[in-house]
Amino acid sequence: METLTLTRPDDWHLHLRDGAAMQAVLPHTVRQFARAIVMPNLRPPVRTVVEAAAYRDRILAAIPAGQEFEPLMTLYLTDNTRPEEILAAKEAEFVKAVKYYPAGATTNSDAGVTEISKCDRVFEAMQQVSMPLLLHGEVTDPGVDMFDREKVFIEKYLIPLREQFPLLRMVLEHVTTSEAVEFVLATDNMAATITPQHLLFNRNSLFLGGLRPHYYCLPILKRETHREALLGAATSGNPKFFLGTDSAPHPRNGKESACGCAGCFSALHAMELYAEAFESVNALDKLEAFASFYGPAFYGLPRNSDRITLGKTTWRIPDELPFGDTELVPLRAGEAIGWKMV
Ligand code: DOR
Ligand code: ZN
Repeated sequence: METLTLTRPDDWHLHLRDGAAMQAVLPHTVRQFARAIVMPNLRPPVRTVVEAAAYRDRILAAIPAGQEFEPLMTLYLTDNTRPEEILAAKEAEFVKAVKYYPAGATTNSDAGVTEISKCDRVFEAMQQVSMPLLLHGEVTDPGVDMFDREKVFIEKYLIPLREQFPLLRMVLEHVTTSEAVEFVLATDNMAATITPQHLLFNRNSLFLGGLRPHYYCLPILKRETHREALLGAATSGNPKFFLGTDSAPHPRNGKESACGCAGCFSALHAMELYAEAFESVNALDKLEAFASFYGPAFYGLPRNSDRITLGKTTWRIPDELPFGDTELVPLRAGEAIGWKMV
């Protein structure tokens, strides 16, 4: 069997949830990744260092016996976050970044920022102590077309923010458009994560023979030209672009609903999905740096020292997985995939 051995990767954007849901999904991530940047959009959100420490302890307690995993914590930025909290986060060390959600942009974002200028003093503190700002880069204005929300966010908010805080280190999370790729390329102190779904699928996947809720995430899948731009960026060998799955589990009935939740669950088979995407453009040689080198470099952390191996063998992605007292449908459930972690 053809195999691909890589330095163990990290996931630089992950939703683990809490309680029984977290217990169900964490082992999948631990199997593939050594570390993950854990999103703070719980209910209530993780807003303070004290809350992040408690959440981190719950994650550590849920790691399967005998396995190793390091959760890298984030704080949820609100209108009321104080600069002192940033200084405390910097001292705490296990807090690696602050997450900005525009209020109402996505799952559990109602406590997010209503007006970006309210955070000026916090951004100053972050710039001062080199605390990265992770952005959900979409406008929430209902008058803006769903497929333009990332592009408009860049023009309306990100360019001015960059000018105001030129040294603030930022990650434009889960980029979905060629405009985002171009902006990241042209901007200092700016990196981006890319999900497997945005590398593999375009917006037609949402409507293939009917409405496909398991392909619905935010920012939403875009047209093919954007997918090609993302795949080009991910496989370019540019360290500004690194792996972040945005694996975001929801119970089946939360997705298959008259008003379905946003989020694709990919923690089960993330590296296999990325391998397929990179292989599609003959760029498997670029996968290790994207998955295992550029993220640690951005966050100033060492690379992992152990390895994982993917084998070229076809298997069927399960229809569903246990998820507390309900079930979870993985991305591309029921279909074949040509790589498998061995
Ligand atoms: O699709 C998404 N799901 N996008 C987000 O920004 C949040 C995430 C979630 O938490 O479910
Ligand atoms: Zn996310």
